[in-house]
Amino acid sequence: MTANTRTDANGIDLDDIGTNPTANPSFADLVASRLSRRHLFGLGVGTAGTALLQACGGGSGGGVAFPVIPPAPAPAPAPAPAPAPAPAPAPAKLGFNAVAKSLTDVVTVPAGYTASVLYRLGDPIAAGVAAYKNDGTDDPATYDRRAGDHHDGMTFFGMNASNKWDAANASRGLLVMNHEAITPLFLHPTGQTVVSGVRTVADEVLREFYLHGVSVIEVNKSGSSWSHKQDSSFNRRVHTLTEMAFSGPAAKTDYLKTKYSTDGSKTRGTVNNCANGTTPWGTYLTCEENWAGYFRRIAATDNPSRSAKEIASFTRYGVAGTGRELWATVTPDTADNIYGRWNAQVTGASATDDFRNGANTYGWVVEIDPFNPASTPKKRTALGRFGHEGACLGPVVAGKPLVWYMGDDSRNEYIYKFVSAKNWDAADVGGGIAAGDKYMDDGRLYVARFNADGTGAWLELKLGVNGITASNAAYAFADAADVVVNARLAADAAGATKMDRPEWTAVNPKTGEVYVTLTNTNASSRPIDKTDGANPRFYNDRTTSGSDQKGNPNGHVVRFADDNADPAALSFKWDVYLFGARSTASADVNLSQLTADNDFSSPDGMWFSHATAGLLWLETDDGAYTDVTNCMLLAALPGKVGDGGAKAITNVDGATTRTQNTFVGKAPGSDGLRRFLVGPKDCEITGIAESGDGRALFVNIQHPGEGSKDIGNPDGYISHWPDGAKSRPRSATVVITKDDGGLIGL
Ligand code: FEO
Ligand code: CA
Ligand code: CA
Ligand code: CA
Repeated sequence: MTANTRTDANGIDLDDIGTNPTANPSFADLVASRLSRRHLFGLGVGTAGTALLQACGGGSGGGVAFPVIPPAPAPAPAPAPAPAPAPAPAPAKLGFNAVAKSLTDVVTVPAGYTASVLYRLGDPIAAGVAAYKNDGTDDPATYDRRAGDHHDGMTFFGMNASNKWDAANASRGLLVMNHEAITPLFLHPTGQTVVSGVRTVADEVLREFYLHGVSVIEVNKSGSSWSHKQDSSFNRRVHTLTEMAFSGPAAKTDYLKTKYSTDGSKTRGTVNNCANGTTPWGTYLTCEENWAGYFRRIAATDNPSRSAKEIASFTRYGVAGTGRELWATVTPDTADNIYGRWNAQVTGASATDDFRNGANTYGWVVEIDPFNPASTPKKRTALGRFGHEGACLGPVVAGKPLVWYMGDDSRNEYIYKFVSAKNWDAADVGGGIAAGDKYMDDGRLYVARFNADGTGAWLELKLGVNGITASNAAYAFADAADVVVNARLAADAAGATKMDRPEWTAVNPKTGEVYVTLTNTNASSRPIDKTDGANPRFYNDRTTSGSDQKGNPNGHVVRFADDNADPAALSFKWDVYLFGARSTASADVNLSQLTADNDFSSPDGMWFSHATAGLLWLETDDGAYTDVTNCMLLAALPGKVGDGGAKAITNVDGATTRTQNTFVGKAPGSDGLRRFLVGPKDCEITGIAESGDGRALFVNIQHPGEGSKDIGNPDGYISHWPDGAKSRPRSATVVITKDDGGLIGL
């Protein structure tokens, strides 16, 4: 959240939820291992001969350097894409002057760099669509051919002259990005029209349906500048009305049957698409995060029609309320129920007469083939249903399983990984959705338990193991579909570790180690007596005006190495790479020894460059340090798990003190962590990608001025970025280049 973030009637950030009431063991309850740190970190992670590929999130997918340990005989070379050049090794220190913290309404980058606006809310992506007037009067029917709102996770897919995926391409590509949510105040003539809790202007709701989802746009470099091609045949919007298929264990089961799909084989749309991911065959993964709040389900009237299991599931996922945008309230409904499908209450005689199962059709990882605009996106149920932040592809090795690491972004939620049953075959490059059917529908889903001794375990989520049984007291699991639909409940049963809001996951191409941003939490979710090794801090981050902010309001970045550098391993070692803090905070809060050049709060977006192996980009979505600075992008050169050491932290809450043991990574110093960009007012920095040569960096500026209240007073808008004057602010993608044409950040 940001300081002026959009909140509900109770002042709760619409995306800032927590619905995990379980009493999973804290570290204090777990028996500490007797393994020494020397033993834990004595197992090298960079096994000789293991070349690694980073391929999640923003890069050119897995195009760089495919199979890295080819078995004998070597597999036939894939026809496409052309191999990318070997990544440049990361330098020992960052090569730019840090950007100062700022509260101004501009995007600031270091001297020697230029940031240009590329793709703004409302920009047309089809021939004949008029330029965006940005006054709330643009024709609602055109919004399925305009940029969506709240730009988020993003990938650049280089494309060659034959219109095929070409990871190395430095001047042409498909930029694919999520549009997580909306700032309704700026979308209509005078904000949302709501009368007694009812949306009375259907056209406003139609705009909002189209403004969520995903953009696919063709982008081109001409000279040194980038632009999107308005009339490219690859341009596509995927939104809340787009038909999608289900695959995996939950497809065609009772859990997914609705009036729209009486056999449970499909649904419409995707929503709250936050971070992203990629596949080694060249498709995009969009992840459905805090989708629960979009559904209308009034528990008091609906619960009497529900089973105890259904109520347990709704409670665990937070499906209870009027629906954050009140979409279900539009009357009359259309014949195909585009409004009523957001009503998750029992209204008909059976599940195929209404949308009582509507909420089960969201919360998935969705695969989109950007190179085939006519393809139907597919929701991959084997990866589980939760508040999916992102899905970061782990190291890709021929003949080995593929793995995706995933966070569940709510307070006290968990970290997951999915390991494919099939082993990677580079012949599947370019295989589109059919390749997804091969690798993403059959595999093992795990959740992480972080032990107090610096080790961790991956707990399988499968019927019959780890307490996930019909006799489980909290929830009686029935079948494989039940386990993935109710993955959070399965993870509770397995005893996963509650984390401080898991946001993005990133895999270091140099080591294969996995980084996870834990953006922040509050004192009620993480009181001083509930800290643990991997979520070790409780403190009061007092603002400059003297307001208390208790708990872990600045967040941290945990990292882990799967044992033996095997992404399919069932155990790992962890430490905390980095702690957010004010540089002025006490030593037990500012554990990473941040300075004015690199202090930050609330890490969220995170991605390793593929052009520069080992260069990490870190983005913030903050509401705690926003008395001093707008949100930012930092560059980092992290080391590896275990490069710091064991640490006993003294946590303080008023007169109460408590010691917490943890493992802290080596302090990065200014050479290893430096602020690269500060965004405009009241924005979040999120989503990041680079061109095939790493000489253009794409970054999303989400919801500048989000907390503005009065549409009638342009002077009062918190931000006017990017168009200036008295304009309404717009989420937008910026492209950053170095003035000498060099690699970004070096
Ligand atoms: Fe959409 Fe987890 O931020
Ligand atoms: Ca996020
Ligand atoms: Ca966030
Ligand atoms: Ca946001």
